[in-house]
Amino acid sequence: MGRKSQFLLLVVVLVAYYIPKTIPENFEEPWKLIWHNTCLKIFVHLGTFLEFLGLYNFLDLLAVTTALNEVPPTSDENVTVIETKFDNTPVRVYIPKRKTEALRRAVFFIHGGGFCSGSAALRNYDFLSRWTAERLDAVVVSSNYRLVPKYHFPTQFEDVYNALKWFLRKDVLESYGINPERVCISGDSAGGNLAAAVTQQQLYDPDVKIKLKMQSLIYPALQAFDLDSPSYREYSHMPGLSKSLLIRLMSEYITSDRSLEKVMLSNQHVPEEWSHLFKFVNWSSLLPERFRKGHVYKNPTYGSSEFAQKYPVFLDMRAVPLLADDSKLRGLPLTYVLTCQYDVLRDDGIMYVTRLRNAGVQVTHNHVEDGFHGAFALLKFKIGYRLIDQYINWLKENL
Ligand SMILES: *[C@@H]1O[C@H](CO)[C@@H](O)[C@H](O)[C@H]1NC(C)=O
Ligand SMILES: *[C@@H]1O[C@H](CO)[C@@H](O)[C@H](O)[C@H]1NC(C)=O
Repeated sequence: MGRKSQFLLLVVVLVAYYIPKTIPENFEEPWKLIWHNTCLKIFVHLGTFLEFLGLYNFLDLLAVTTALNEVPPTSDENVTVIETKFDNTPVRVYIPKRKTEALRRAVFFIHGGGFCSGSAALRNYDFLSRWTAERLDAVVVSSNYRLVPKYHFPTQFEDVYNALKWFLRKDVLESYGINPERVCISGDSAGGNLAAAVTQQQLYDPDVKIKLKMQSLIYPALQAFDLDSPSYREYSHMPGLSKSLLIRLMSEYITSDRSLEKVMLSNQHVPEEWSHLFKFVNWSSLLPERFRKGHVYKNPTYGSSEFAQKYPVFLDMRAVPLLADDSKLRGLPLTYVLTCQYDVLRDDGIMYVTRLRNAGVQVTHNHVEDGFHGAFALLKFKIGYRLIDQYINWLKENL
């Protein structure tokens, strides 16, 4: 075989390897998605390889590549955009230019990116915040937080919580012309985790006098106890967010010690003394039948206490909001949960919906049958706009 044909063969093999064999029939723009997923897969493999060679930390690479999509804080004819700090946390604030006599609504938004990448400045989040401000005639605060691997939990939580506490002060809300009874918190993915955690925390914090009216959680990550639910089993190889990548991100949120990741991959990171908490993440009772079908629930395999003792964060509600007991959930505000079918995190969101409803919290659950992780505000895809539209319409009606 000549050089040229060898090269051609290599290309064919690579293409065949990277292009997914089957894609669900209901995807709206299948070829675009295949292309998108193929690029992500190549990126992950390349990043893993560079890390293996000791050239780059994969998480740093992810952060640097993501940051290429940042845009400056530019005001337009409808919205004024400023960058400032709320109690040391850098935020972007979007204020509608329209004149109004009435006090405005407000949305406090927390971006996703696996705790290690992303910012309020990313093109898609900037677009989302601008659009929310304009369509709702609301003030939008888009919060940043310090990132993994330089900072671990609870820094991310605290950055966001401090910013929110600052924002919810009477004088601050007044200065932006905001109605204190109409403030919502929202976040996607890792930001959904932070939004859920912060919403629980503010409820019982006597220093927070003005409470949130509602929370919206977009495919949130809510637990790290059971990494073998049906969505973990079915969608573990989705390139946007594979199970292995998710576990890497979750373990790095806690520590840079990679041995934790290995234990989590085998789902044996929970010791027997915590067995009483499994009821909070028991998908056998918390998932509706249609999401469970074809899957048999196995009681957990317990692991050694070593990691549990070293990392009590596994039990910390500020990191795993799904572990809060019913008494803590009871007073939570009106909630919107968006889950996507093709997403390892699907069951986290659905289990939270069940648990909140059981605790008497009013919940709107938007389950997107053709959705995948990262689709919200993904501006290259029609679905990105569709999901924003549904979310903003819900805010319009309820906030
Ligand atoms: C400003 O609002 C008007 C009316 O809603 C709209 O037509 C226009 O496109 C908006 N401008 C920008 C930059 O989004
Ligand atoms: C989970 O729920 C099922 C059925 O509701 C039950 O049989 C099982 O014992 C539960 N397991 C745990 C660990 O709570």
